[in-house]
Amino acid sequence: MELQQDERTAAGRCQPITVRQGAFEFSPDTPAHWIPGKAEFAQMVNGASFVMPHLEPFLVATLGEAMQWIEDPDVRREARDFCMQETQHYRTHRRFNDLLLAQGYCRLAEVEADMAAAYRRLAKLPLGRRLAYSAGFEAMTLGLTRWLVSNRTELFTGADRQAVSFILWHMVEETEHKLVAHDVYQAVTPSYWRRAFGVLHGSIDVIRWSRRCYIALLEHDGRWRKWSSRLRVWYWAARFLGGAGPSLLRALVPGHDPRRERNHPWVDQWIAGYARISAAGKIKAMPLIDTASPAMPVPF
Ligand SMILES: [Fe+2]
Ligand SMILES: [Fe+2]
Repeated sequence: MELQQDERTAAGRCQPITVRQGAFEFSPDTPAHWIPGKAEFAQMVNGASFVMPHLEPFLVATLGEAMQWIEDPDVRREARDFCMQETQHYRTHRRFNDLLLAQGYCRLAEVEADMAAAYRRLAKLPLGRRLAYSAGFEAMTLGLTRWLVSNRTELFTGADRQAVSFILWHMVEETEHKLVAHDVYQAVTPSYWRRAFGVLHGSIDVIRWSRRCYIALLEHDGRWRKWSSRLRVWYWAARFLGGAGPSLLRALVPGHDPRRERNHPWVDQWIAGYARISAAGKIKAMPLIDTASPAMPVPF
C-alpha cells in the first residue's frame, strides 16, 4: 500500500526541505581573515566558498535533468526543493566571494576560469556519472557539517558573525537535504560501483578545487611559502579529513543510506528555531550566531 506524504515523512523516507533566502548582509569590509588567529583556516573556508558558484549550479543542472526520470512524486518534489536550496547557496557564496575579489584577490579569477571550464567538461558526462558525483559530494558535506558544528566554539570564537552564520546556515541546509542526491541516484540509475566511484570522484574533485583556491588566496597573503603557515594548513586539512572521512567511508559501503547518518542536535535546533520565527512573520535578515558566547547556541 502506498504511504501518504505525512506517513512517508514520519517514517523517515522523505525529509521536508525548507527553501530559505540567503539573507546575509555582508559588510564590504568583511575581512578575508574573518577568524581571529586562524588566517589559514579562514582562507581554507574561503577557498571552498569559491568552488560553490561552480559546483552547485552543476548539482542543480544534474538533479534538474534527472527529474524527468523520477517516478516517485515525493523524490521529484525533494529534487525540486534541493535545486532551490542549492541556488540560494551559490548565489550567497557569489556575493561573499565578490567581496573578497574586491579586496584584491584577483588571482582567483584565473582559478575560477579553470573551474568553469572543468565543470563544463563534467556536464558532458553521462547523467549516471554526474548523479554519482553529486551524491558523492553530498556524502562529504555530512561529515564536514558534523565536524564544523561539533567544534564551532573552538573554530569560530570571536569570528565575524555574518560569515560564521552564513557558513553554518549552508551546512545546516546540507544536512536538511542529505537524502536527495542519494535518492535521485537510486531512483534513476542504481549501480553500486558507479556510486562508489562517485563518492571518490565528487569528494576528491571538490577538495582539489578548494585547495587550488585557498593556495591562490594564501599566495596573495604572502603566507603560502612560509613553513609556519604551511604547517597550519596541513593541520587543518588533517582535522578536516578526520571529520569528513568517516562519512565518506560509510558512503562507500554497499547498501549505504544517508538516513542512517544522524543529525547533530544543534542542526535540528537550528531548523526548529528557524521554523518557529518564520511562522511568526517574514524574516528580513537571518539572525546571527553570537560568536562571543562560550556555547555558540543557535540564533533563534
Ligand atoms: Fe549547498
Ligand atoms: Fe548540498
